Amino acid sequence: MDTKKVHIMDHPLIEHKLSIMRDKDTTIKEFRECAHEVGLLIGYEATKNLETERFELETPLTKTTGTRIKKSVALVPILRAGLGMVDALMDLIPKARIGHIGLYRDEETLEPHEYYCKLPPDIEERKVLVLDPMLATGGSAVSAIDFIKKRGAKDINFVCIIAAPEGIETLHKAHPDVDIYCGCVDQGLNENGYILPGLGDAGDRLFGTL
Ligand code: PRP
Ligand code: URA
Repeated sequence: MDTKKVHIMDHPLIEHKLSIMRDKDTTIKEFRECAHEVGLLIGYEATKNLETERFELETPLTKTTGTRIKKSVALVPILRAGLGMVDALMDLIPKARIGHIGLYRDEETLEPHEYYCKLPPDIEERKVLVLDPMLATGGSAVSAIDFIKKRGAKDINFVCIIAAPEGIETLHKAHPDVDIYCGCVDQGLNENGYILPGLGDAGDRLFGTL
C-alpha cells in the first residue's frame, strides 16, 4: 500500500479525546463534543493540501499579496454517523457545500445499502471530503465513493476518526486515488465487523439510539 495515501494523526489531543469517546460511560453530550473537537483536529490536517492562489489586497497600510483557497469544497457525510463531523468541518470551511449519502450496513452480511444520495450539482469541480467516523470493513466508504465518482467527482479524500487495517486496505484497493485521513488505526474487526477496541456503534452513540 502507498503509505503516503494514509495520513494517521499522531496527536496527544486526539488520543485524549478519542479515549473519552471510547469509554462506554461517556454521555451522549460528551461524545458529541469530542466528535466535534476531534473532527476539527483531523479536519485541520485533512485540509493541509488544499490548493491556494495568490491575490492582491490592501491592508490599512500598504498593498500586499494574500492567499485564498482555490478550489471549492464539498463535504459529504455518510449518514448517519458522518453528521457528527460536519459542523467541525463547516467551522473550518464555512462556504463548503454539503452532500449527503445515506448508507447502512446489513447486520448479517455487513454489506452497505444505499437509501439516500443528494450531492451538489457541481461536485465534479469540487474537492470532496467524505466524512464518516468509522472505517470498519470499508464497504460503506467504497460504496459512497463509487456513487460520488459516478456523479463526476475526481478529487476525493476520506476523513474518519477510527480506521481498522482491513478497512484501509479495502478502501485503498478500490480507490487508490483517495487519500485517507484518520485519527488512529485500531487493532482490527471482531466477528460482527465492529472495530476493536473501537468505540462501539458511532451512530447509536451520537444519536442516543443504543
Ligand atoms: C457505520 C459507520 C460507517 C459504517 C462502517 O454505519 O458510521 O458508515 O458503519 O462500517 P463498514 O466500514 O464496515 O462499512 P452504520 O451502517 O452502522 O449506519 P448508521 O451510521 O446509520 O448507524
Ligand atoms: N460501525 C460503527 O459504528 N462502529 C464499528 O465499530 C464498526 C462499524
